[in-house]
Amino acid sequence: MRPARLMKVFVTRRIPPEGWAALSEAADCEVEQWDSDEPIPRKELERGVAGAHGLLCLLSDRVDKKLLDLAGADLKVVSTLSVGVDHLALDELKKRGIRVGYTPDVLTDATAELAVSLLLSACRRLPEAIEEVKNGGWTSWKPLWLCGHGLTQSTVGVIGLGRIGQAIARRLKPFGVQRFLYTGRQPRPREAEEFQAEFVSVPELAATSDFIVVACSLTPATKELCNKDFFQKMKKTAVFVNISRGDVVNQDDLYQALASGQIAAAGLDVTTPEPLPTNHPLLTLKNCVILPHIGSATHRTRNTMSLLAANNLLAGLRGEPMPSELKL
Ligand code: NDP
Ligand code: DGY
Repeated sequence: MRPARLMKVFVTRRIPPEGWAALSEAADCEVEQWDSDEPIPRKELERGVAGAHGLLCLLSDRVDKKLLDLAGADLKVVSTLSVGVDHLALDELKKRGIRVGYTPDVLTDATAELAVSLLLSACRRLPEAIEEVKNGGWTSWKPLWLCGHGLTQSTVGVIGLGRIGQAIARRLKPFGVQRFLYTGRQPRPREAEEFQAEFVSVPELAATSDFIVVACSLTPATKELCNKDFFQKMKKTAVFVNISRGDVVNQDDLYQALASGQIAAAGLDVTTPEPLPTNHPLLTLKNCVILPHIGSATHRTRNTMSLLAANNLLAGLRGEPMPSELKL
């Protein structure tokens, strides 16, 4: 028997099949979806959310005060298909008693795997090398050609030794890394023990590391944490990798550091804006490898994320414990 009053759910994009099936089968919900692989225009988002009880959104949807005002008093749950929550106005959500679901853990391995791929691509200059094979630049084996920097006996600095930061360190350790450093709001001795990682200040991490991996969340405190000052402290031979959010980096300063040889190379899975315009200066640099935010992009991971996001939403709407609720 159908419940007397269906709860309205708005989904801001096509999502993988497992999550979609869970929502479609929910007898107590009426689900409307922006049926596209492309981002929903703001006007459509504002229209779709009006009167909704639940919103399933993506990291590209800005859920701010204005949107929450337009949604109205029925909105009970916002479930994001991401572990990052920097696109959500958390203070406003808390004030209104709206519950928030997110997708930690299930994407940790995929993202760490991608971070290691990106680090190796940048430090061993893989895109440049592949290009040389294609364009005839490969004329012979040359002792000094396309040399990069290796992980053996290196010092790796992790900014944010959280779930993904630890998973990256775990994967890098067997490459022969000599020393791990990390930084964050406070030491995490329990997590650091596995890598004998040393807690250091941001400037010390910048100055001492051969490889720097950014895996922190984007917050007011981490916005542009990696700026001119930071890059100037880095070794000329060091490689910088960011898989967190583009705004943790001042991209103009990164461009200067890479173009002037202040640092050796960078690998970015995240940028500001996304997508990065094709005429962006960073794209002119051979020593900068840029990927289109694909950290969690494996079929299995995205499917699992979608199911978790759907189950978070449904549990929240039904007043049940959510599988992954963000504590506000
Ligand atoms: P966690 O919450 O487990 O880790 C976040 C880390 O950020 C913690 O280690 C925390 O350290 C650190 N942090 C917070 N504030 C600061 C600060 N002021 N200075 C330095 N570090 C800080 O999250 P996850 O590991 O699961 O995810 C991390 C981020 O990765 C996400 O928020 C998201 O933005 C990004 N991400 C990107 C993906 C991609 O596709 N490229 C995929 C998945 C996630 P402490 O608490 O000790 O301060
Ligand atoms: C996240 O989950 O925050 C990523 O950026 C995408 O998976």
